[in-house]
Amino acid sequence: MPSIGTTLYLALVVAWGASFYQWYVNDFFAVTLGIGRVIQTIDEFPYTCRRIEHPRLEACEDIWLDNEAKTLYAACAGTEGRLQWSPAMKHLNATGRRPGGSELIALDIDYPGADGLYNLRAIKPAGYNGATGDESLDFVGFDAQILDGDTIRFYLINLRPPVGAFNNIIDATKLGANATIEVFETRRGEDQMRHLRTVWSPAVWSPNRVAAVGGGAFFVTNDHSGKIGWRRELDDFIGGGNVAYCDGNGECHAAFNGDEEDEDLPQASMNEPKYKALVNRALKLIPKTKLKFPNGLTRGFDGLIYVPSSVDGQIRVFSINDDNTLKQLDTIHVRMPLDNVSPDAKGDLYVPGFPSGIQSAKGLANPYEEISPVSIWRIRKTVDLGPDGVRSVDYRVEKVIEDRDAKVLSGATTIRHDVKTGRLFISAAVHPFLAVCEPR
Ligand SMILES: *[C@@H]1O[C@H](CO)[C@@H](O)[C@H](O)[C@H]1NC(C)=O
Ligand SMILES: *[C@@H]1O[C@H](CO)[C@@H](O)[C@H](O)[C@H]1NC(C)=O
Repeated sequence: MPSIGTTLYLALVVAWGASFYQWYVNDFFAVTLGIGRVIQTIDEFPYTCRRIEHPRLEACEDIWLDNEAKTLYAACAGTEGRLQWSPAMKHLNATGRRPGGSELIALDIDYPGADGLYNLRAIKPAGYNGATGDESLDFVGFDAQILDGDTIRFYLINLRPPVGAFNNIIDATKLGANATIEVFETRRGEDQMRHLRTVWSPAVWSPNRVAAVGGGAFFVTNDHSGKIGWRRELDDFIGGGNVAYCDGNGECHAAFNGDEEDEDLPQASMNEPKYKALVNRALKLIPKTKLKFPNGLTRGFDGLIYVPSSVDGQIRVFSINDDNTLKQLDTIHVRMPLDNVSPDAKGDLYVPGFPSGIQSAKGLANPYEEISPVSIWRIRKTVDLGPDGVRSVDYRVEKVIEDRDAKVLSGATTIRHDVKTGRLFISAAVHPFLAVCEPR
């Protein structure tokens, strides 16, 4: 006869195992892969969308809108180059990067021009020297802050190739990228940005996007548990990646690693039978609360940090502790893999989703032949003050557009909403175009 303690213990393990199973069956197939999901077509939504196509607007993972000057900035790497060099997607051929590297492109969104290209121009970097001794940069996510009326400071993630002696590129499949965050400043209307500093830290190993918080400080997501290696393969299932914080001097530390201990789990102790210790150790390998592919985070107008997941379809909401670690307050369930989340000028959040995980995997690997369906979500926060003075916070999640057949949109990774006209500007990390959707 097992003791009551053992029975209770086993019951707990079974219950916990069942919830884990539930996650796999329900969430992995339904949320992550999108099996059984009904996806709508783009003509069901009150928008007219078109692509903005130009070789310099290929593979723009991230975009940022200067709401007052009406200038959209896009960080573009080129589709061919992205397919060779995209460490988050395990493309690690650094010599296949686009010659000259990535560009920060500016578009005047109120002046489409005869060619429909919005006065497209590059903001050229000045004073930056890259890993290999040239000026090339390798962009993914970025953030920007308007300092005074006219100065914009950019925090751009730079996926530098690893270099050895004489600045020669060494095989990145063995080392991964040697990522940095580059801080540049420009003035509105200028076509150049000056390099201020480089942030490099062991606490930042696979940066995805930055959320600037003022004073030169920022939070940054590490989207995987490591640069390369076998443990990364398990990230989608058991979690991996974190959020780090870097201060104005470029000193960085972990800010949120996920809750390491699951309090519901019975703990192993010395005098317990061997099997209990073994089960415990096995269970510990699968913490339920780790971040799964934390993607493009942002700072909301409420000062909170929003971290979307490209696996479990959640956006976790954090407040900032005094020591610049993060404390989770809320979870918003969008229920599909998400990319960069971006506030508009009113504070509403826009985030693209991948409604079909399976089709998206094909589309991101082969953007010229395979589609990657897109969903666009708006998240609006409401705070109600009850009669008893208790604040209740709610997040309303609404689908704005969906494009099942990728008729116009494909593989979208960032949305910027222009509140003045209602237009949406949409970029894609791999696909070779931007898109704009106008309300009808
Ligand atoms: C890396 O990219 C270069 C340039 O596109 C190409 O010649 C080379 O074959 C690629 N290497 C691998 C291993 O794919
Ligand atoms: C990575 O970048 C840092 C900062 O620029 C540099 O000191 C280091 O040598 C680089 N390492 C590799 C392997 O490229």
